[in-house]
Amino acid sequence: MGLKRKVENSIYRLKFFLVSKIFCLISASLFLSQLATGQELNPLDGDPRAARVGGSIFRAQCATCHGADAKGIDSIDAPDLTLLYTGSGTSDESVFNTIRDGVSGSIMPAHTFPDTEIWMLVSYLRSVGLSGISTEIDGDPVPGELLFIQNCSTCHRRGDQGGALGPNLSQITQVRSLEALINSVRNPSASIARGYKPVSVTTEDNEQVQGVIKREDAFSIQIMDTDQYLRGFSKISLREINYEEQSWMPVFSESELTNQDLNNIISFLQSSL
Ligand code: HEC
Ligand code: HEC
Repeated sequence: MGLKRKVENSIYRLKFFLVSKIFCLISASLFLSQLATGQELNPLDGDPRAARVGGSIFRAQCATCHGADAKGIDSIDAPDLTLLYTGSGTSDESVFNTIRDGVSGSIMPAHTFPDTEIWMLVSYLRSVGLSGISTEIDGDPVPGELLFIQNCSTCHRRGDQGGALGPNLSQITQVRSLEALINSVRNPSASIARGYKPVSVTTEDNEQVQGVIKREDAFSIQIMDTDQYLRGFSKISLREINYEEQSWMPVFSESELTNQDLNNIISFLQSSL
């Protein structure tokens, strides 16, 4: 080997040595910073491809139980995973561990996927997760309470007061974004909450019953009617079942409820119970 070649070779080795040392230092400091926060962070955080691929894995492996939209399937008690991050104490790491280890004593299985695929699932669940209102609302809870009682509480409960035709709104500002809340009020039928699908049926004696579907299988249907009584029917006894497209929640336009009124209601819903 010529001298030039030898020198080049050792320069190359030196470079390789330095690069690998730097790499070790970087990974060691990453490791230390994770130790310092006490939490394992999702290494794919912020990579939109990870959430996309995670979504495909989810539909192939998890949707039979949790639903293709991750909103859960009531009949087998598989929870709505879009609410995962609304609870306190949920971190990417705890979700990772649940997916890997399963939940003992339940049908939620352990998964032996490579770590990267589990992190992709975590990225996906983060991306569909609801996280509530983070900004300060320009509203006043005092007039908001009155407006809520006048316009909303016949159908909605907050704390231990109010009706049950619509969902309980006690924690709603922790699980829905501001945009979603405003949409629910201005355009209720655009997205109808689970357990509140509108239906009308005609009984054998031609009684018309309108309400929301609480439970349904091939043979029977349970409805909370618009007077808020629970009623059960066997389907064979019904003359007609109409699955409605329009929510029983009325549309509140800006002439009935101004943006300021709505902000006041939202800040009332946000205030502590
Ligand atoms: C055979 C049905 C089934 C399959 C398949 C399944 N799960 Fe589950 N999963 C459940 C059930 C049931 C629970 C509720 C367990 C409990 O707490 O009793 C659950 C709980 C969870 C939880 C915890 C929810 C919470 O509120 O703490 C996460 C996260 C989760 N599943 C993610 C997944 C992911 C991701 C997949 C696919 C890789 C998956 N599951 C596949 C049935 C399933
Ligand atoms: C006549 C009954 C009725 C009245 C009055 C009513 N709602 Fe509703 N609301 C419903 C029903 C039923 C649903 C569920 C179906 C749907 O999503 O449209 C609902 C859904 C909602 C949701 C969505 C909840 C979720 O989980 O996403 C919000 C937010 C809401 N209502 C707020 C209000 C507010 C604020 C008022 C008063 C300004 C009001 N509602 C008045 C019946 C009502």
